[in-house]
Amino acid sequence: MLTRAAISCLLLLCGTSLLFAQETKSTSTGVFAEEQAKKGEAAYQRVCASCHGADLHSTEPEAPDLTEGAFKFGWQGKTIADRFEIIRNTMPPGRRGAIDDQAYLDIVAYILRFNNIPAGNQTLQPNVDMLKQIVISVP
Ligand code: HEC
Repeated sequence: MLTRAAISCLLLLCGTSLLFAQETKSTSTGVFAEEQAKKGEAAYQRVCASCHGADLHSTEPEAPDLTEGAFKFGWQGKTIADRFEIIRNTMPPGRRGAIDDQAYLDIVAYILRFNNIPAGNQTLQPNVDMLKQIVISVP
């Protein structure tokens, strides 16, 4: 009896983790389009480069780099929703919400692309619930 209960309990646990595995996916599967990253680059150069640098190496002592070690430290394992919301709600300092949600998300795609995360053929949409399911994996 006990063994039986233990087995069904185990099956339940496995089932749950499988379900969970289906609900999240990694950026390594190509979650944004090349075209979106290109648009993001233009917006980034216009709105963010003055502090974070044209090549994502910051030119402002307080602002973090958005590539290499600082990128890995700040972005690895986070969801796209997390990074999108932080940027949309805090950047540029004192002018948050300066551009629309889609433009913020295009910039996120550009930052990912710059850091060698592969493009695919879908476009990221500013739907926070969906973005919560995509986990950033730095190659
Ligand atoms: C006027 C200078 C300035 C501009 C313009 C600016 N930033 Fe920042 N950014 C900063 C500073 C300073 C910090 C560190 C302090 C902070 O986190 O508030 C920062 C922090 C960040 C962080 C790290 C946040 C965290 O908590 O992990 C990201 C990501 C970021 N900026 C992205 C952007 C993006 C994308 C844009 C353009 C939409 C942008 N920034 C525009 C100055 C700037």
